[in-house]
Amino acid sequence: MKARIAGTGSYVPERVLTNRDLERMVATSDAWIVDRTGIRERRIAAPGEACSDLGVRAAELALQAAGVDAAELDLILVATCTGDAPLPSTACIIQHRLGAVRAAACDLGAACCGFVYALAVGDAYVKTGFRHVLVVGAEVMSMITDWTDRNTCVLFGDGAGAVVLTAEEGERGILSSHLHSDGSLWELICVPGGGSRIPPSEKMLAERLQYMKMKGNETFKVAVKTLEDSAREALSANNLSVEDLDLYVPHQANARIISAVAARLGLPMEKVVLNMDRYGNTSAASIPLALDEAVRAGRVGEGSLVMMAAFGSGLTWASSLVRW
Ligand code: UT7
Repeated sequence: MKARIAGTGSYVPERVLTNRDLERMVATSDAWIVDRTGIRERRIAAPGEACSDLGVRAAELALQAAGVDAAELDLILVATCTGDAPLPSTACIIQHRLGAVRAAACDLGAACCGFVYALAVGDAYVKTGFRHVLVVGAEVMSMITDWTDRNTCVLFGDGAGAVVLTAEEGERGILSSHLHSDGSLWELICVPGGGSRIPPSEKMLAERLQYMKMKGNETFKVAVKTLEDSAREALSANNLSVEDLDLYVPHQANARIISAVAARLGLPMEKVVLNMDRYGNTSAASIPLALDEAVRAGRVGEGSLVMMAAFGSGLTWASSLVRW
């Protein structure tokens, strides 16, 4: 039994924040951001627009594309680090709004790797007998972005993507997933405050610990290495080579990271999906958003070999190989 991706969907908020807008907020320039990251603009959720609002829109489109009714879903997994609230799971809010009356629902936290991790969990549940699993990646990164910190605020954006997994016999579906972590590097990307270690307080807010901190340069080097390693791991586990790949859908953190990985793998850039120019880094939403755009642009067809790969806070890194 395989978990086939039967439908994809995505949604981004209306408001566009350009590099020019950021020039008026922090000491940065459009040229620096484009040159160092490939990002030109990103979307920002409206006041009051929460993670589940984005996730529901993406999920509805994925269900429609799959031809699956919400009431048929057995499980909803939402990968996010910016859920509506600490309790309940954002997945439960989405379950209710979709009318997925039969579905179990929970969130999964693996930051930028969250979607690939959740896909692997969904695949495992399909192998235990679930028929339809909805996997959503949805983030309101603008909520944990420090808009006075030029090291991070130029990088992130808001959005959501979703896929419906359907149990199917045959060759099509997720071939394998490869998940990794190294918690010794947790300080490279973190939100220090707001949890049980440093609970919310006036002191915490004054020190701006509710916002994301990142050691960008160190993360960059780890990202290139782990993305290359996880691509090779997924291919060799399936006795396939880089030449067999039809589409590579990497986490959209930085165009330079992705082109370095493609060069190391010997993968032509025509086979790589890049959309961070319009959305920036949307964390767990980035891969399903990029995948949905590629699918709707006709870049995959039946039998295509598609690889998704991510790295992020934790640190975590992960890849998934899919026969479309
Ligand atoms: O989902 C995972 C999330 N994380 C990542 O993917 C991050 C991976 N890292 C990166 O993408 C890159 O490291 C960055 C884009 C964050 C930074 O690029 P870099 O080429 O590694 O720059 P750097 O950190 O080495 O900084 C170079 C210079 C510094 O100035 P000095 O010390 O050389 O005078 C920074 O202060 O660029 C400066 N700088 C900026 N200048 C203009 C840092 N941010 C900005 C900015 N605008 N926004």
